[in-house]
Amino acid sequence: MEKLTVALPKGRLFDQTIQIFKESDILKEEVQQNSRKLILETADFRFLLVRAKDVPTYVEYGVADLGVAGDDLLMEMKPDVYRPVDLGIGACTIMVAGLPQDREKYFSNPTSLKISTKYPNIAREFFGKKGIEVQIIELYGSIELAPLVGLSEFIVDIVETGRTLRENGLVVIEEIAPSSAKLIVNRATYKTKNQKVMDIIEKLENTLVKG
Ligand code: PRP
Repeated sequence: MEKLTVALPKGRLFDQTIQIFKESDILKEEVQQNSRKLILETADFRFLLVRAKDVPTYVEYGVADLGVAGDDLLMEMKPDVYRPVDLGIGACTIMVAGLPQDREKYFSNPTSLKISTKYPNIAREFFGKKGIEVQIIELYGSIELAPLVGLSEFIVDIVETGRTLRENGLVVIEEIAPSSAKLIVNRATYKTKNQKVMDIIEKLENTLVKG
């Protein structure tokens, strides 16, 4: 039988997804990301280990049938894929944050703001709705550094435990949206391999309902 290809982000979400697949009886074997191999094969699946941000691309283009991606990336990239199951892992919140002394400026009806972020589209859309013009400074990591060194007063980033903000003297200023990881499905796969995909969705939902 033809294997399904699944694009998974390397790291914690990979392990958590494998765990859920095993608990749901979708996957029978052990799968571990302990080598530099980028493709891991089991009897029924071919797992592609990719950067989290690349998962939607692999699934949208159909080289992967399925994938796991957070709402943060789905909101940012708006890929044309199905998102049938909330896996309830990778929970975090997309926030505006900054230094405590800059809160007042933020809430004083500014007409423009400078924002450092790895989510330029989310930031533009969020502030666009408020009628605030934004100058986006796009960064790829350690976003919390930006207000500390004066690159921008505010950031848009995900907050998980809040530890990075706390340890750098930053505070949450406004919540944009909650985020958790979703199972995503290529649109063609959904039609051509419908039975297989529906079986996986059903098994995942059963496990997730049981908690
Ligand atoms: C993410 C995010 C925050 C941090 C939040 O960064 O961009 O910096 O985690 O987590 P916390 O609230 O639990 O502290 P990541 O670890 O992905 O690294 P990066 O800075 O290289 O993007």
